Amino acid sequence: MSCAFAASLKDVVIEKSFYGFTKDGTPIDQYTLVNANGAMVKIINYGGIVTELWVPDKNGLLRDVVLGFDTLAEFEGPNDPYFGCIVGRYANRIAQGRFTIDGVTYQLACNDAGGARPNMLHGGVKGFQDVVWKAIPMKTPEGPALRLKYLSHDGEEGFPGNLDVTVTYTLTNDNALKIEYVATTDKPTVVNLTNHAYFNLEGEGSGDILNHELMIVADNYTPVDNNLIPTGEIAPVAGTPLDFREPHKIGERIQAFAEPPFKGYDHNFVLNNQTGELALAARVKAPESGIVMEVYTTQPGVQLYTGNWLDLKGKGGKYYGQYAGFCLETQHYPDSPNHPNFPSTLLSPGEVYKQVTIYKFLTE
Ligand code: BGC
Repeated sequence: MSCAFAASLKDVVIEKSFYGFTKDGTPIDQYTLVNANGAMVKIINYGGIVTELWVPDKNGLLRDVVLGFDTLAEFEGPNDPYFGCIVGRYANRIAQGRFTIDGVTYQLACNDAGGARPNMLHGGVKGFQDVVWKAIPMKTPEGPALRLKYLSHDGEEGFPGNLDVTVTYTLTNDNALKIEYVATTDKPTVVNLTNHAYFNLEGEGSGDILNHELMIVADNYTPVDNNLIPTGEIAPVAGTPLDFREPHKIGERIQAFAEPPFKGYDHNFVLNNQTGELALAARVKAPESGIVMEVYTTQPGVQLYTGNWLDLKGKGGKYYGQYAGFCLETQHYPDSPNHPNFPSTLLSPGEVYKQVTIYKFLTE
């Protein structure tokens, strides 16, 4: 939650410590990155999970603003709702886990809601959140960084092509967590990478995020069916509870989505910036801590997910209930491989997939 040692830390630090063994005995490390202001992020090379992210509040005290667990066994276990991890190969859903490239149909592992919904969610049964990444710590002019690499083999979870993935986290000296995604393939495939951090800008475990004020730079969204699969339509947010073009409290209109399949916000916003260049996508402010998070991305979409199904114990045994955190998952739209009118997620040999998302922290 909060602690007072931050402001005295002046040097950029990267530390590596043993975090735990996976079920099959692989040792996992935790990397602690501290920037010149004393902001700190901890990342493990299992799932590339951001386990802690400490940023200053309006009084200069550090707060840990991401939800998570204390142990590897919990991140590896069945109750992990994708806390802080890298999501791949395909973030969000692909209908029936099926898509076609060049006349060949590929069938993916369908894992959504334990198979009750016949879709692939977040990469399949064993997505990138559950794999061991090779970690390379780096001191860069921008701040301390951790490069993570993973080679996803041809056929993994049903996806074609050997996919060579590099994700670089940098804790910049202006208090931003920058995430750069790079991937190449040796066969045509589809790729959609994101990070699934659950934020609570009052501090993790401090209650719900309904009072956070949110702004999203999106005039449109992608409506979905009862299985949360896009209908293919691009619809205006105007006149709906999805209109966040001016800041609104997250809780103000959330009741409109109280019923399943939503139980809160779980929507893909079509960002106004469709250029592929970095631009502001969203801004969130927590009233008590004064912590503001700005999200910049090269991606065309962002999933707002408000922790609708949370009901578990997290760090320090703290209870995380419904709406204990929110995610802003920058992404291509759900089920893009089956919607030719959506920006393409196809990656071919010789091309380089490149996306950048920045979560920048300040106070007001
Ligand atoms: C999805 C939700 C899903 C959640 C799982 C989000 O990215 O949009 O539908 O329940 O991840 O943690």
